[in-house]
Amino acid sequence: MELKDYNSLSTAELRERIVKAKQKKSAVLLVHNYQTQDVQAAADYLGDSLGLAREAEKVDASIIVFCGVDFMAETAKILNPNKKVLLPDLRAACPMAAMIDAETLREAKKKYPEAVVVTYINSTAEVKALSDICCTSGNAIQVVKSLGNRQILFTPDKNLALYCQAKTGADIIPWQGHCYVHDNFKVSHLETAKAAHPDALFIAHPECRREVLELADVITSTSGMVGYIDDHQALIRDRGVIVGTEIGLVEQLIVNYPELPIFPLSPTGICATMKLTTLPKIAWCLENETNEILLNESIRQQAYNAVKRMLEIG
Ligand code: 13P
Ligand code: SF4
Repeated sequence: MELKDYNSLSTAELRERIVKAKQKKSAVLLVHNYQTQDVQAAADYLGDSLGLAREAEKVDASIIVFCGVDFMAETAKILNPNKKVLLPDLRAACPMAAMIDAETLREAKKKYPEAVVVTYINSTAEVKALSDICCTSGNAIQVVKSLGNRQILFTPDKNLALYCQAKTGADIIPWQGHCYVHDNFKVSHLETAKAAHPDALFIAHPECRREVLELADVITSTSGMVGYIDDHQALIRDRGVIVGTEIGLVEQLIVNYPELPIFPLSPTGICATMKLTTLPKIAWCLENETNEILLNESIRQQAYNAVKRMLEIG
């Protein structure tokens, strides 16, 4: 069957096919918090980049279908060279990861020979391979602190780099990449949301700009946000919460906590490539074992060192 044939199947039929194919082939669906709600509902594991990397490390299956973007699927492959990792739509790329390439990083390393290279997991395997250690939004502060007072070349997210600098006082040279979704959140979005919900708390993802983060009550990863809301339900019932991240996570929170006043910082915060994954594409790529992620083995091994070093820290 071709992809177009899967597009004409009902949601119930697609779900059934996915469950059957998973059993038959020993496959799991690892799903990021920004995926659409119907994809999230099909997840064996749902989480942030750190949780997904940890899950990919211990997964007991022959096939991983990664419902997220390219760097996440690549990370799963870096950790599981002997497993088949499938990405339902190969166009699902993170634009931030494309804001640095191996050649430019090589040049920067010559310019700052003393610096440790800390690379956000939102990067290609080639860039990870040239880095000393990776980090995610969930452990960036811990990773930076683990490096003592060494100078750090932090790639590719300038906002996460500046956040780490402000939190740790480390000597950080930020790369000039950014996430277009989070970088588009402005103080004016918060002012509008606060005008409607004046008592609401504001929780923000560290990919947001510094001036937005300065107004946040809590700064954390997507799963950190889920954990915070789960732990503070009484407070949020009382005050409400404005959530500064991509809409898929906000929708997940609204579904899981229907009685809590949860508001998006902006409904326009949509990561287009995260939405490329659909149930028909999942069923198609799993049944046909197509869209496999393949990496050059020497790059994979070098990238593995940087990812593994991160996972050993936090
Ligand atoms: P998390 O690791 O916090 O889920 O973030 C991933 C991401 O791509 C944020 O834009
Ligand atoms: Fe990349 Fe931003 Fe999309 Fe996350 S939300 S995958 S950083 S573009």
